Amino acid sequence: AGNRTFTMIKPDAFGAGNSGAILKMIEEAGFKIVALKATQLTAELAGKFYEVHKERPFYADLCKYMSSGPIIAAILEKDNAVEDFRKLIGATDPSKAEDGTIRKIFAKSIEANAVHGSDSDENAAIEGNFYFSQFERVL
Ligand code: CMP
Repeated sequence: AGNRTFTMIKPDAFGAGNSGAILKMIEEAGFKIVALKATQLTAELAGKFYEVHKERPFYADLCKYMSSGPIIAAILEKDNAVEDFRKLIGATDPSKAEDGTIRKIFAKSIEANAVHGSDSDENAAIEGNFYFSQFERVL
């Protein structure tokens, strides 16, 4: 077993019907699914999830956007999970993302950027625990 990261397939990608294609890319890159669900955030829960960004100018819009439709939340496992997953998804701004990355292929804008990926092991654990109980994940 490797270590873990956390991802969301965001409302733009979910709404466009790209969840399956994105999960396929994730599995083909060697990540194992440890927990998975479709759900929808309220604006309040989105605000809590993205609390670290609350002083940023895009925060209000981000909370509105992230609660605008269904998402998929997942915990993923692989050696070097956090760093390797960030490579797989590409830069936050899809116009700066490398060819072949999930955001390059599926993202619509810097906000509607198809997927989230945790930026550290510590945040991966916090974010996974935000969505999933012990009974909702592979041991
Ligand atoms: P994510 O990696 O989930 O973390 C914060 C999110 O804020 C980011 O992806 C985007 O969806 C959104 N966002 C919107 N505008 C910006 C911006 N200018 N810089 C960074 N993130 C932004």
